[in-house]
Amino acid sequence: MTPWHPLLSTHWYAVARADEVRTRPVAVTLLDTHIALARTAGGALIALEDRCPHRHAPLSSGCVVGERLACPYHGWSFDADGRLRDVPGLPADKAPPAISVRRFATCERDGFIWLRPAATGAEQPNAMIRATDPATRRFLWRTRWSANVVDAMENFLDPLHTHFIHAGLVRRDGKRVQATACFRPTDEGFTVDYRGMPAQSGLLYRLFESERTAERAHFAAPGSTRLEYTYANGSRVLIDLHFTPRSAVETDVFITLHVEGRWAPAWAVRLLAWPFLKRVNDQDMAMLALQAGNKRRFGERNGASTSLDIVRGTLEHFWTQGVMPSAPVARDVKMLL
Ligand code: FES
Ligand SMILES: [Fe+2]
Repeated sequence: MTPWHPLLSTHWYAVARADEVRTRPVAVTLLDTHIALARTAGGALIALEDRCPHRHAPLSSGCVVGERLACPYHGWSFDADGRLRDVPGLPADKAPPAISVRRFATCERDGFIWLRPAATGAEQPNAMIRATDPATRRFLWRTRWSANVVDAMENFLDPLHTHFIHAGLVRRDGKRVQATACFRPTDEGFTVDYRGMPAQSGLLYRLFESERTAERAHFAAPGSTRLEYTYANGSRVLIDLHFTPRSAVETDVFITLHVEGRWAPAWAVRLLAWPFLKRVNDQDMAMLALQAGNKRRFGERNGASTSLDIVRGTLEHFWTQGVMPSAPVARDVKMLL
């Protein structure tokens, strides 16, 4: 088990699609913590440690009874605060013992259920998530990568693998242009603006896009990343990936696509863009699995980097120290993209 930095637990993480959490409990794992998550009969979220304090059966295999979650083994049931409320078979004149299971704070935003592992910490998910308009969402998906969270986030934010892993689809190695990447720290993480690239050399751009006026990558702690494209015709596209580490080697990825100011009904995005986005995801997933396998074979060690590796240092710092670097340096990096 990874010794996660304790501060990481004070943040909010996406743990499930909101539409897959119903009265039948689901088991979720984040930061090596196992949780049973369900909706009560009244629609409230209930999130409890996935271990019954009686004989340790998983509560995620149990069921919701009214406003409580009941253990599948002997039927002990717990309220949303984790308090034991009923022990089936106990005579009516005997009160259940004062026992509680650990409960977790949850909320619902932009189609996902978010959870904070620590009892105290951030009041709500980060500002990037709060500011996102769910009405512009066209697409929502979840997947799981066999990768460490830092490797996974770096993959999504770094454009320099796209010429190889997504050759032809996203970019072409033979058609690079001179660009400048402007790294700027923010309150929650950083942004990287890519300047000098009104077009992109791959098929995806030709099929679905038009002249870009801005391209920006975002990181908002703990696990949110975004690629934001603004177009000359006034529209804007956001591709958000929220990363939730299950363990040191497995990361859940919660994906949304938002479109503003452009004809793009959800069914059309699904039908036309989805096969391509799925292909891009599969290509990344395959490389990350190879990378993780090799890290197991050779052991963890720091990789060599150049000025092009803009995001790695900050991501690694956050995920090992639990905070942003105290003085992250704004910088403009020239690159051929
Ligand atoms: S193990 Fe849960 S009620 Fe016995
Ligand atoms: Fe990729």
